[in-house]
Amino acid sequence: MSNPTILLQARQIEARVAQVAKEVDKHYAGEEIVLLVVLKGAMVFAADLMRQIRTPFQLEFAQSRTYGESTVPETNPSVIGPDLSKISDKHVLLVDDILDTGATYLALKEWLLDREALSVRGCFLLDKPWRREASIKPDFFGFQVPDVFVVGYGLDHAERYRNLPYIGQLPEQPE
Ligand code: IMP
Ligand code: MG
Repeated sequence: MSNPTILLQARQIEARVAQVAKEVDKHYAGEEIVLLVVLKGAMVFAADLMRQIRTPFQLEFAQSRTYGESTVPETNPSVIGPDLSKISDKHVLLVDDILDTGATYLALKEWLLDREALSVRGCFLLDKPWRREASIKPDFFGFQVPDVFVVGYGLDHAERYRNLPYIGQLPEQPE
């Protein structure tokens, strides 16, 4: 299979991630937060972002699976998350790779607010507003991308391509 077409170079991503970290620090000035990383796709972004963030944070992980082997969502997001004591009465910054339909973010946000998070905000490397189901906007995001399936920098297709240092568009699949 041919390589993905590059949409965002590693250097562009690095520079933008540093800016996003500054926006986060500005927003949370004086607060402590929980950085809740949504596995698995966000781990590369989160690893770079957290090293630029100066706001004190506690690191937690959540998982919400929507995609299996396909490029369209297969199920509603189901949440595997941190225990209640870690999030109740805390400001939670959810870090995910991409905001697409918004279903994952909505489900996680509701789940966190049910567990008495003080506030929930979302920080995404990529924003794909084209298929958004509800009026959800990212509080922080790196780049808007076209409505194509993207891979690399943590994002996968059937677990492949996560190791690419850039964001690319998946080559056309034969039907
Ligand atoms: P949403 O629930 O539709 O907003 O989708 C969010 C999740 O779907 C992301 O965290 C990704 O794991 C996955 N996703 C959505 N679009 C893409 C894509 O273009 N490439 C890889 N994963 C994607
Ligand atoms: Mg994801």
